Amino acid sequence: MLIPWVIIGIWLARPTPISSFVIEVQMDRIEQIGGEHLLDLSGIRVRKYNRTLSVINGTYSIVRDLDESLAFTVTVARSALGNNQFNEYPMKIPRKDGCRIFLEDYSEYQHVWANTTNLPQVDKEAPPALCALPKGDYWVKDFAPDASWVPPVVPEGFWRMTWHMYSAVTDELEGQVRLFIRVKKDIF
Ligand SMILES: *[C@@H]1O[C@H](CO)[C@@H](O)[C@H](O)[C@H]1NC(C)=O
Ligand SMILES: *[C@@H]1O[C@H](CO)[C@@H](O)[C@H](O)[C@H]1NC(C)=O
Ligand SMILES: *[C@@H]1O[C@H](CO)[C@@H](O)[C@H](O)[C@H]1NC(C)=O
Repeated sequence: MLIPWVIIGIWLARPTPISSFVIEVQMDRIEQIGGEHLLDLSGIRVRKYNRTLSVINGTYSIVRDLDESLAFTVTVARSALGNNQFNEYPMKIPRKDGCRIFLEDYSEYQHVWANTTNLPQVDKEAPPALCALPKGDYWVKDFAPDASWVPPVVPEGFWRMTWHMYSAVTDELEGQVRLFIRVKKDIF
């Protein structure tokens, strides 16, 4: 979640604008395209928590340990009008295998979802023998992205973040997960 926003921010960085604004991030929906042999997100929904906040709620399964035999990357696209005409941002997030993501990124950001899902907490000093997000049935309750992650240079509009899952062995695309988000700025 966080890393793509930071990269968009760096990619777009230009002299600081003078106006100030509040950034509002509203999730719209989550979609899985293929990869049911790895993940099952069919029980996950984006729900309205209140007028301005939407949350991810439900149950999901990791069907297979997400380990070094799989590689992941994220791409980001924007639709200015929300008419489903998305333009991909030409930014490159290097592909990483599941073991490295678990040790480096997952352990770095696990505090973000600590109390909203029952995924395991990793002790960086004593990582578990299995270097993977372990298979299992999980729940997520009222998880909301934090708008403070979105750098001010990120333009308003409808954003689509796509997680691509590849076989690290054959390089073939095994599935995708897409999160649709609306970014709004209220100038004050
Ligand atoms: C999320 O699910 C929990 C039950 O698991 C429920 O209590 C809560 O109201 C749900 N939140 C929303 C916004 O629907
Ligand atoms: C929606 O809920 C969040 C979290 O409890 C809260 O911070 C925010 O002020 C609420 N917004 C409205 C419009 O009630
Ligand atoms: C999660 O819950 C624990 C125990 O209630 C609390 O100490 C901790 O600060 C919470 N973490 C976050 C990120 O909200």
